[in-house]
Amino acid sequence: MKGDPMTKILAVANQKGGVGKTTTVINLGASIAVHDKEVLVIDLDPQANATSGLGSTEADSCGIHSFISGENSLEECVVSTEIEGLSLIRGARHLAGTEIELASQDEREFFLAEALSTSDLSNYDYVLIDCPPSLGLLTINALVAADGVLLTVQSEYYALEGLSHLIETIKRIKAHWNKRLKIFGVVLTMYDKRLKLSREVEEEADKFLGKALFSTRIPRNVRLSEAPSHGKPVILYDAYSSGAKSYMSLAREVLSR
Ligand SMILES: Nc1ncnc2c1ncn2[C@@H]1O[C@H](COP(=O)(O)OP(=O)(O)OP(=O)(O)O)[C@@H](O)[C@H]1O
Ligand SMILES: [Mg+2]
Repeated sequence: MKGDPMTKILAVANQKGGVGKTTTVINLGASIAVHDKEVLVIDLDPQANATSGLGSTEADSCGIHSFISGENSLEECVVSTEIEGLSLIRGARHLAGTEIELASQDEREFFLAEALSTSDLSNYDYVLIDCPPSLGLLTINALVAADGVLLTVQSEYYALEGLSHLIETIKRIKAHWNKRLKIFGVVLTMYDKRLKLSREVEEEADKFLGKALFSTRIPRNVRLSEAPSHGKPVILYDAYSSGAKSYMSLAREVLSR
């Protein structure tokens, strides 16, 4: 059913760079949308990779900057994408400046939460927030605004070390600013079952995370890395690729959580 009043807001986060956050936001978003759900992607990363990966260009106005500053409404900022049911609030490089502006203001952790709570989200089943690779104010704003965090973990050495730091931060934010916040799930990305290292990370993640770990593994798949340069989610670029199938499988898991 569309327009479920129980909109779920998920922040896709990891302070490590290049671990599949944006790839997951784009492709999980698209895969949930094709299940006849309404999904809103919010590009909170000044790199604006989710924006270009969804075929849009950076926002000079009516993007994330003017949305969180309250200049423009949600309706004014939302743009559609090639996937029916998948919309976007565009990111912009000057958002990096916004992070600095925010730093000197009161209630600086609450800008996104405030903008979302005063918006009508009833059209959306899911809101996915693409976070930058840091635990700075933008990521904190996402975690304060979210119901849950979806962590992407690259199947590589040291992946789990950073994870405990991130989980501590989530606990702190939950204690101080956002009681609703939960770890919604953890997904292993760039997984290669032929590699001993991937299997070792998997085993440790399984022990450390238990049920939080999604059963779906996102394999390393070249189609996933090619699709953004065509401005498309992988299901429009190569629906039969292992990457496309894995994100469809992750979407089913997310929908059933
Ligand atoms: N499963 C995958 N298979 C192959 N390539 C992938 C996969 N996931 C991501 N990539 C590629 O790896 C790079 C990093 O991925 P992505 O941009 O999603 O990570 P990120 O965590 O959002 O990075 P950043 O922290 O810089 O925002 C990109 O070039 C992307 O295309
Ligand atoms: Mg990214």
